[in-house]
Amino acid sequence: MRKFRTVRAMTAWAQGLQREGVTVGLVPTMGALHEGHRALIRAARLSCDAAAVSIFVNPLQFGPSEDLARYPQTLARDLRLCEQEGMDAVFVPSHREMYPPGFETVVGVRDLTRRFEGVSRPGHFEGVTTVVSKLLNIVRPEKAFFGQKDYQQAVVVTQLVKDLNISTEIVMRPTVRESDGLALSSRNAFLSPAERKAATVLYRALTVGKEMIRAGERSVKTIRQAMTRLVRAETLARLDYAAVVHPATLEEFRAARGRVVLLLAVWIGKTRLIDNLVVTAR
Ligand code: PAJ
Repeated sequence: MRKFRTVRAMTAWAQGLQREGVTVGLVPTMGALHEGHRALIRAARLSCDAAAVSIFVNPLQFGPSEDLARYPQTLARDLRLCEQEGMDAVFVPSHREMYPPGFETVVGVRDLTRRFEGVSRPGHFEGVTTVVSKLLNIVRPEKAFFGQKDYQQAVVVTQLVKDLNISTEIVMRPTVRESDGLALSSRNAFLSPAERKAATVLYRALTVGKEMIRAGERSVKTIRQAMTRLVRAETLARLDYAAVVHPATLEEFRAARGRVVLLLAVWIGKTRLIDNLVVTAR
C-alpha cells in the first residue's frame, strides 16, 4: 500500500493509473476508522480497479466550540485497516499541505446546506464542500464513496459534483450499525457507559417513525411528535432536530408520500449524534 503525504505525489499516482485506463475509487475520511468506513472501503475495492482512502481531520468543517481538539486520532490503526482491506493507497496530508499560507477559496452549496446540520453547525458544510472539492480535484476518482449515516452530507456532495461538472460519481452506501441499532461513529468513543445506553434512543425513535409510516400514518407532524416524545423520555438525551424530508431536496412536507427520509440529531451529554432512515410510504 502506498502512503502519500503530498498533493503532488497523490495526484501523480492517480493520474498514472488513469492514463493506463485503471479506474480509481476514493473514500474520503477523517480517520478513526470503524466498520462504517470499512464498508465504504470494501465497496470501493469491489467496484474500482484501484482504491484509495484519504485521512484528513479537516479543521475547516469544525466550529470554534466543536470537538476538533479531541477528535480521535488513531493513524497507525487506520493504516493497518486500510492495508488489511487491500487499499492501494492512502492520502494523509498535513493541514499545511491542504491549506497552505495564503489559502483563500471556499466552495459552498446554497439551500441544501441551510437546513438541519447547516443550521446546528454554522460553517460546517462549507468546510466539507471545500475539502471534498479539493480531494476530488487531487485524485479525480471515477467514484467516491460516502455513508448514508451522514445523509445530508451525501446529498450536498452529490449536488456539488453536479453543479461544478466534476466527473466523479458519488456513491452512497448504507449505514453500518451496532447490534442494538446505534450507528457507528467516531464520536461514540466519547460516550460514558450510561450515555452509550441512552444513545440507542436515536435508532429507537427512527424505528418508531418508520413503523408508523409502514402502518399507514402519513401526517409528518404526528410522526415527528412521536419521535420527539421518545427522545424526550430519555433523560440523558436532548433533541436537536427531528424531521421527515424529501430524499433529494431535503424539504419538509406535511404528508409523507413515496420515499422519505427521517432525520434525527440528538445531544447525548456533550456528544452530538445524528442518524436517519429512508422509508417508503406506499
Ligand atoms: P468521517 O466522519 O470520517 O466519515 C467518512 C465517511 O464514512 C463518510 O462518508 C461517512 O458518512 C461514512 N460513515 C461514517 N459512519 C458510518 C456508518 N456508521 N456507516 C456507513 N458509513 C459511515 O464524513 C466525514 O468524515 C467528512 O465530512 C469528510 C467527508 C471526510 C470530509 O472531511
